[in-house]
Amino acid sequence: MEKILIITGGSKGLGLGLAKQYHKNGYRIFSISRSKIQKLYSVEQFQCDLSKTELIEATIEEIFLQLDQNNTANLTLINNAGDLGVVNTIENIPPQKISYTIQVNLIAPLVLSSLFIKHSKNWRCKKQIISISSGAAINPYESWAMYCASKAGVDMMTKVISKEQKDIPNGVSTVSIYPGIVDTDMQTSARNTPKENFKSVQRFIDFHENGELFTPEQVASKIYNLDISGELKNGRILDIRTI
Ligand SMILES: NC(=O)c1ccc[n+]([C@@H]2O[C@H](COP(=O)([O-])OP(=O)(O)OC[C@H]3O[C@@H](n4cnc5c(N)ncnc54)[C@H](OP(=O)(O)O)[C@@H]3O)[C@@H](O)[C@H]2O)c1
Repeated sequence: MEKILIITGGSKGLGLGLAKQYHKNGYRIFSISRSKIQKLYSVEQFQCDLSKTELIEATIEEIFLQLDQNNTANLTLINNAGDLGVVNTIENIPPQKISYTIQVNLIAPLVLSSLFIKHSKNWRCKKQIISISSGAAINPYESWAMYCASKAGVDMMTKVISKEQKDIPNGVSTVSIYPGIVDTDMQTSARNTPKENFKSVQRFIDFHENGELFTPEQVASKIYNLDISGELKNGRILDIRTI
């Protein structure tokens, strides 16, 4: 029987770490991102810009066509792809950029979760959705309006779906995870924002200079261990730093 992971943003950063971690542990991986990794890492890669809803639908359909419910023991979706967005106070951000970040960080996880639940409705295996959220869901950072709002939305999505699914026989279990400060391109772009656009920039420079960042591999391994130890209970919002 196969263990299946569908993950967004498996091309770099935390998503790449997670894809490698689950693959090492026997999962077949389907990664959805805009770019493909050339030298691979046995992951089935699907090119899709998650800001385009119609492409998400086609991609998920293509992936499910390759799956066999009678040969699947575990089906997991990780909503990982994310975009920090333009870092600036909201009146300085063009409407299209606001829209794009919300599309990638919130609408895509909503659409993916909807399609995942729909397509796997009659599947009898273990089914779960893990959404990579952020402490920004509960801490308002100036200049991160879309990022904070989208992560707060992801957490609420988790809570609503957990209620919808909890009384369904073999429903989908869902959690949100705050991964801590991870050494990825997203952190580099936060640190590189001009101070006049981002009041907290020094805090992020300090995290880096003080060696406080986790590697993607550390976080991926922690998430995997939480998963296999049964800690990812339906509806939980977990912060890696406090577990
Ligand atoms: N790094 C941190 O400190 C930190 C802290 C808290 C939460 N997080 C969360 O962790 C998750 C992973 O972030 P990261 O730090 O690993 O960021 P990253 O290194 O910038 O990677 C982002 C990933 O998302 C994909 N992606 C971005 N826009 C996309 C789009 N329009 N369509 C398809 N894929 C897209 C990228 O793939 P392509 O470029 O190939 O499309 C890439 O694989 C995000 O949800 C982020 O909010 C990160």
